[in-house]
This record gives sequence, C-alpha cells and structure tokens, in this order.
Amino acid sequence: MSRPARSSGDIPPWLIVGAGALGQLFAASLAPHHPLVLLGRRPAAPVVRLRTVDGSDLSVALRRELPSEWAAEREEIDAPALVMLATKSRDTQAALDALSPRLKPTTPLLLLQNGFQIQPRISGRWAGPVLCASTTEAAYRPAPATDHASIDVVHAAAGETWIGDLAGQHHDLASTVAACLNDAGMIAGACRDIRQRLWWKLAVNAVINPLTASHRVLNGELAKPEFRPRIATLVAEISRIMQAEGIQPPGKGWQALVDGVIETTAANQSSMLQDVLAGRPTERDAILGPLIDAGCRHALETSTLTALYQTTPN
Ligand SMILES: NC(=O)c1ccc[n+]([C@@H]2O[C@H](COP(=O)([O-])OP(=O)(O)OC[C@H]3O[C@@H](n4cnc5c(N)ncnc54)[C@H](OP(=O)(O)O)[C@@H]3O)[C@@H](O)[C@H]2O)c1
Repeated sequence: MSRPARSSGDIPPWLIVGAGALGQLFAASLAPHHPLVLLGRRPAAPVVRLRTVDGSDLSVALRRELPSEWAAEREEIDAPALVMLATKSRDTQAALDALSPRLKPTTPLLLLQNGFQIQPRISGRWAGPVLCASTTEAAYRPAPATDHASIDVVHAAAGETWIGDLAGQHHDLASTVAACLNDAGMIAGACRDIRQRLWWKLAVNAVINPLTASHRVLNGELAKPEFRPRIATLVAEISRIMQAEGIQPPGKGWQALVDGVIETTAANQSSMLQDVLAGRPTERDAILGPLIDAGCRHALETSTLTALYQTTPN
C-alpha cells in the first residue's frame, strides 16, 4: 500500500468503521490529508465537529455513510485500501462481517480496540494483513445535555499510536499506515512488539477501568488508601499472569506502571466509567476476560480478578 499524494483524486479511500469517539477523532484528523469514508450506524451530516485539545472547535468535511449504504454500493473503484475498525471490541466482528462481502479478502485491517480479545481472533481468521494499534489518544463523545452538545467529539488528550501485527509479518505496512497518521499531524509509529504493548495497556486498564466504573470515581481517587490493598493484590495477580504469558515487565515494575497512570490521569473519567454513566455496555470482557483466561490456562490464582469481573458492570 503506497502513501497517497495529497492532491490525487483517484487514491483508494480508507474506510473507518464506527463513528464513535475514536473513529470520529481519527476521521477528522485524517480527512484533510487522506481520502476516507466514515461509516456510522446513525445518519449524519458529512462533517465531524471536533473540539481540539487546545479547546478550539473545527468542522471537518468528510464522507459519512451508513454501513448498509456502503455495503450495497457496487463501485469497484472505491475498494478501500485499509479498513480501520473503531467500534468497541464486542461489536468489531459483526461490523467486519457486515462489510466483508464487499471487501477484497486481502484488504488490510487496522484494529483500534483496547483489550486483547478481538485482536487474536480476527488476526487468526482474516486472510489479509491485520494490524493492531495501541493508542494513548483520548477522545469522548459529549453527553447530549452538556454545554458542548453541538460537538461530535472532544479530543481530550493527544497521545501516540503504535501499530504492528501479532505475527510480525507486516512491519512495512504498519510503517506506511503510521506515516499517513504522521502526515495528518498525529504521533504514530510502527512497532514489532504490539502484543506486549497491548498487554501493558490491558494491565493498566484492568485495574483502573473496573474500579473507577464500579465505584463511580475519577482515576485519581484510586490513589486513596482505601483502594491500595485491593490494587496491590490485583497487580500481583496480573504480574504473575504476564510472566506466564511471556510479557516483559515494564522497567519500574507493574505497580509503578499502574500508579503512574493513576497519577497522570487523576482528573480523568475512565472510558468504562463514561460507558456506565452513558448507559452503554462496557469493555469488561475484552479487558478482564483475557487475563482471567490466561490465568486459568496457566493454573494461576485469579480470585481477585474474577471477583472484580463479577462486580464490574457489563
Ligand atoms: N475513546 C478513546 O479515547 C479510546 C482510546 C483508546 C482506545 N479506545 C478503544 O477504541 C475502541 C472504540 O472506542 P470509542 O471510545 O470510540 O467507543 P464509542 O465512542 O462507543 O464508539 C464506538 C462506535 O462504534 C459504533 N458501532 C458499533 N457497531 C457498529 C457497526 N456494526 N457498524 C458501524 N459502527 C458500529 C457505535 O455506534 P453507536 O453509536 O450506534 O453505538 C459507536 O459509535 C474501543 O475498543 C476503545 O477501548 C478508545
């Protein structure tokens, strides 16, 4: 896949599937630089209204369609060069299945999901390259009744996006995709250790997301003494699972990694808490499920993780 020249009109578009927080952020960032189609489940005007990290509001014109409309079109010329799946983990397979009759079987995919559930599943089944991303970009959709309800998506924090594939066979493709994101002003890079990066993020999310969602608190509250013993037990279970899975520990250890994120994101509402407050399903299964499964595979103690799973809203 080659990088498009900015002025060219016949470059195959990228398809971004899922017009939620991350899908709209990526679409709004990329659209001025790269042809794309944003597929969302609700009819929408051909624009994304983005509040940037510096607080300014932008309206970015782009092509938006319903998945059913796009799937019904028969324009060979429009075959996407890449399909970026930006749905929640639980919806990703169904979103791909609905589109796949119109996709070339070798179309590269880019998965943006947190957790480690859909990534191995789709990587094992899809005939074409499957890239996975681990991103620290943060975005959310404002609640309808807030003062910025006319905004589609708020870019809460600029981060970086690492891209690679689980089999380590598509580094050049990952580099090309990362370069397109760089051209759009995003910080992105290709990596050969995406599995480790996904598990590291999952380790952090497995502690912060369920606890903040269950207790309805901001991330920083988890630094309070009443949470410390439970967090320490969770981190101990997680670190044994990571070791059994062959995941390298971070330089300062798992506890320092988790505590560091609690500190740097103290004022944030975790994505799972946002989902609970908005009445949406959470990503409990994609985040806690792989850890508990791995713990069972290696005959390790997972009682604290399992109890957390059972009390976390789904
Ligand atoms: N937001 C972030 O800052 C962030 C950061 C890092 C990673 N992530 C990961 O990125 C993924 C997406 O997160 P998000 O925050 O963007 O979630 P989100 O705001 O809930 O967006 C998901 C979108 O997917 C749509 N969708 C579901 N099924 C679909 C289908 N079959 N076809 C087309 N669209 C479909 C949903 O439509 P409806 O609106 O109709 O439900 C929703 O708009 C998650 O796995 C999350 O963990 C998010």
